[in-house]
Amino acid sequence: MIIGVPKEIKNKENRVGMVIAGVRALTQSGHQVLIQSGAGIGAGITDQQYAASGANIVATAKDVYSKSEMIVKVKEPLPEEYDLLKEGQILYTYLHLAAEEKLTRALLDRKIIGIAYETIQPDDGSLPLLAPMSAVAGRMATQIGATYLQKDNGGKGMLLGGVTGVQRANVVILGAGVVGMHAAKIAVGLGANVSILDINLDRLEYISDIFGNTIQTLYSNAEQIERTVVNADLVISAILVPGAKAPKLVTKDMVSRMQPGGVIIDVAVDQGGAVETCHPTSHEHPTYVVDNIIHYAVPNMPGAVPRTSTYALTNVTLRYAQMIANLGWKEAVTKDTALRKGVNIANGKLVYAQVAKDLGLPFEPLKL
Ligand SMILES: NC(=O)c1ccc[n+]([C@@H]2O[C@H](COP(=O)([O-])OP(=O)(O)OC[C@H]3O[C@@H](n4cnc5c(N)ncnc54)[C@H](O)[C@@H]3O)[C@@H](O)[C@H]2O)c1
Repeated sequence: MIIGVPKEIKNKENRVGMVIAGVRALTQSGHQVLIQSGAGIGAGITDQQYAASGANIVATAKDVYSKSEMIVKVKEPLPEEYDLLKEGQILYTYLHLAAEEKLTRALLDRKIIGIAYETIQPDDGSLPLLAPMSAVAGRMATQIGATYLQKDNGGKGMLLGGVTGVQRANVVILGAGVVGMHAAKIAVGLGANVSILDINLDRLEYISDIFGNTIQTLYSNAEQIERTVVNADLVISAILVPGAKAPKLVTKDMVSRMQPGGVIIDVAVDQGGAVETCHPTSHEHPTYVVDNIIHYAVPNMPGAVPRTSTYALTNVTLRYAQMIANLGWKEAVTKDTALRKGVNIANGKLVYAQVAKDLGLPFEPLKL
């Protein structure tokens, strides 16, 4: 199969869909990999390195799209890329179609095989192609929070772990899932006073087993949230209610009662955010202040650490790319039920029920 990797064109998106290990694995299996010149630069991979590992470097996105049977990307195609797609082409990337009617229609019209990273799901219900980005965002959240707590960045001037004889910062993490656990890891590592809240007691049990007495686990309800948030120096919102908008767990009133110079990182902003005073920001202008509290709410946090997140992502995407390339998409999704759930669009039909429901478009089960 001819597999193409274009350069990402979304604002400040420096990740790339395939690293050298991927090129090697695919070319050794007899496939051809086309890489757009410069596609890997943001992640630290040069054209020369790709070429040395067996890829063919092509000059433009048009070259990649026109010659490839499968496109491997990171982000969904932008309008300027729609017309580069060709009928029957496999598009393997994050798609997030439920919020993108225009893109969905573009893929349907062009009869693309749209396989979305975010809906590939094994029988245990996990989302293995989303988890690494949550791990990255969780770890970043604590790092970023620590930075904004510094006085020179507008914060109250506090070190997360304090020093001997001095109070440590209170870090409150809402949600003990992937983001929450990774945020906790870094916060505990830096010596902060960490509380983590969740409604899933199994999750809290797990956190408690891992972190022992270095962390306070709390059942999440309005009273506990209010008590911990108003006393927090850093609040990290990391909740997810699958398929739904995030509930506003942190109210404007709670924010106004936090001490000036405190910091809120709303990682869940991509699902609408769990903090009433939060709205999406960007890597260019990541923060704003409400009631003397610094708010950070960037929806694509991993984009800022492309060297880490490219590898974290491609570690989990390559396996399925290989299956699709080796078997063809129909046989691959017949053999692997997790991959089958990744198919959102095929042969001009919307074949993923939840996306069809959210967009109010007709759904048809996948026929192979
Ligand atoms: N901003 C970014 O760049 C970025 C990157 C990755 C993930 N995210 C987002 O971060 C959020 C969390 O992702 P995740 O992978 O950790 O999800 P996850 O499913 O692993 O964890 C979410 C946790 O929230 C808990 N939860 C649900 N309702 C709650 C409530 N009322 N109180 C307390 N906890 C509650 C769940 O029980 C679960 O343990 C999602 O919205 C995800 O889209 C954002």
